[in-house]
Amino acid sequence: MIIDGKKEAEILRNEIKKEISSLKDRTNEVPSLSVILIGSFVPSEIYVKNKIKKSEEVGINSNIIRYPEDVPEEKVIKKIRELNDDKKVSGILVQLPLPKQISKKKIINLIHPSKDVDGFHPINVGNLASGYQGIVPCTPLGCSLLIKKIEKNLSGKHAVIIGRSNLNGKPMAQLLLKENCTVTIVHSKTKNIKDECSKADILVVAIGVANFVKKDWVKSGSIIIDVGINKLDNKIVGDVKFDEVKEKVKAITPVPGGVGPMTIACLLKNTLECFKARLI
Ligand code: GUN
Repeated sequence: MIIDGKKEAEILRNEIKKEISSLKDRTNEVPSLSVILIGSFVPSEIYVKNKIKKSEEVGINSNIIRYPEDVPEEKVIKKIRELNDDKKVSGILVQLPLPKQISKKKIINLIHPSKDVDGFHPINVGNLASGYQGIVPCTPLGCSLLIKKIEKNLSGKHAVIIGRSNLNGKPMAQLLLKENCTVTIVHSKTKNIKDECSKADILVVAIGVANFVKKDWVKSGSIIIDVGINKLDNKIVGDVKFDEVKEKVKAITPVPGGVGPMTIACLLKNTLECFKARLI
């Protein structure tokens, strides 16, 4: 089975749209998302454009704050402080990567945890690790929603995650632990990645290497979630050799059209959650 991330994302966006509309009727307010984009890195431009477009489609008031590549760090800090204090702003997102004069750690720590739609602030990271309520990073949240569509009860399943980033691998592991999976994270220093992968009932691949996972790496009947977005011979491909792996597994996400649309839908979900938390 090929998991239709586009369709699942559309279903989620429709639910979000409905909820925003009824909240608007009740409060006369809508969520708002401010995105800070620094420089002109083409993939970031594309991601941000998509985030804004999809936000507006569901009724989120969104805006981009652009800075040139050489903007001083203090200027960005000042803007984030303003956005933190602005009651009309529900969510703040600073698109990564950042130019070298700007400290990623400083920026992530500065965004107020209640407006941190990326879920990158240490408070949100800690909440997730402790199993408490908090904002969960969009990509792993989207992956977990897709996995749950295929398999409701994940208890006791062996999940293997390739990649240990703060963006994907680590929060993905926390989410799957919460579902009572047995979780293994493998990474570039792991001795035998292939052997570990072959034991996985659920395999999440977020390593950024085109066609890294082959058919003989995966277990028959497993669920494969491919987070990779790589350019190969002018085509976008994932981290999994899709054509051969799809024959062997129970379900797999395609690239494009798998995890990507769900990531954006989860950003809208997080923005709505931040807005709702402020209404209470
Ligand atoms: N750059 C690539 N992915 C992301 C993401 O999920 N959030 C932010 N802020 N920047 C990114």
